[in-house]
Amino acid sequence: MNKTPLLGELTVPGDKSISHRSVMLGALAKGTTKIENFLQGADCLSTIDCFRALGISIENHGDKNRILIHGKGLRGLSAPHSVLDCGNSGTTTRLISGILAAQPFSCELTGDASIKKRPMGRIITPLTAMGADISSINRNGCAPLKIRGRHLTGIHYQSPVASAQVKSSVLLAGLYADGLTTVTEPYPSRNHTELMLGGFGARVETDGSSATLTPPNELFAQELTVPGDISSAAYFITAAALIPGSELLIKNVGVNPTRDGILRVYQSMGADITRLHERTGSGEPVADLLIRGGRLCGTSIGGALIPALIDELPIIAVAACFAEGETVIFDAAELKVKESNRIAVMAEGLSSMGADVTETEDGMIIRGGRPLKSAVIHSRLDHRVAMSFAIAGLLCGEMPDIKGGDCVKISYPDFYDDLKKVTSC
Ligand code: S3P
Repeated sequence: MNKTPLLGELTVPGDKSISHRSVMLGALAKGTTKIENFLQGADCLSTIDCFRALGISIENHGDKNRILIHGKGLRGLSAPHSVLDCGNSGTTTRLISGILAAQPFSCELTGDASIKKRPMGRIITPLTAMGADISSINRNGCAPLKIRGRHLTGIHYQSPVASAQVKSSVLLAGLYADGLTTVTEPYPSRNHTELMLGGFGARVETDGSSATLTPPNELFAQELTVPGDISSAAYFITAAALIPGSELLIKNVGVNPTRDGILRVYQSMGADITRLHERTGSGEPVADLLIRGGRLCGTSIGGALIPALIDELPIIAVAACFAEGETVIFDAAELKVKESNRIAVMAEGLSSMGADVTETEDGMIIRGGRPLKSAVIHSRLDHRVAMSFAIAGLLCGEMPDIKGGDCVKISYPDFYDDLKKVTSC
């Protein structure tokens, strides 16, 4: 089957993690924070809605992807009149919980069916150790959560998981705590919270996989431009790297070393990816990526690499099916507690397309090179699953029937339009 090469230029939407944090820190800063290239994905809109409900005025100029947050300072939030709805967003739920744990009011947090199954014990434990009163209303360790604001004390938390959501929840609570707050992780996770807290005027020191926050008196409004999301670029990087004749330039992609694991892995698999015009934008490393089509070979992915590509593992699993030889993904049990169980859902969908995939306790073993064919795919309303299977379809020349495929709006509302654009140049 002849596959259409990906040609031309593309810009992907703003980074989801940074967009969330920009709303949160902007709300807690004094003055008006201006954010350009804000991601208009449903997850980030949930964060905006929550902060509006907490009394913060936020202007969203969606046509320009610009938001203005009229921050009221660290102690400017007010009690919401109803339950805060975090939608599908784990980042909203976990990070906002750290902030709410220290407010002079009580509130409840909820979300969609997926959020109500995701583990919140991982933030309840450290926040409780800081003095927070936070509980799972159904006593199952998941949302809905009840949070009664308390006076907090800084701790040194040794997190059992490398999770930026856990680290950020604790550091944001630390903004209000007496004394220093330190989080140490098994491996460093994405460090956007640390970088952005520094930009907004707080003191954060990092040492290997530890980050320590000194509580500031105030945060100060900033003007930021969010880099393109490498997690969104990942779908097009994969397709271009595997379709011969492709030559795709993806402009303005965030290449923070805590996020660029996919580039390092694909290069070790033989991909032709060049970073051009490397620069720093709003405190984050940014580059344009030139991807030329070629062949990939299998690899082994585990350990410290996992947090640097955790959200890309579904699309990497797709790539592995088209690579020569075996790919082993291990140390990735965290995939089971994402928007869906991404080990099970990817193994099921890829197998139904004809791939040779074995699900393991903490990852997958994929023997590449088998021909794939179209199938009915259940996205389980997981945006990264839906986009991964759209690319699997492109790579095998037959689009699968992706059930619930419009869930891409969570992180990449124009995904299908961009896919059309780069395949019809
Ligand atoms: C995120 C951290 C990651 C990632 C998620 C976004 C963040 O989750 O999977 O999509 O913005 O902090 P964990 O920190 O739980 O690994």
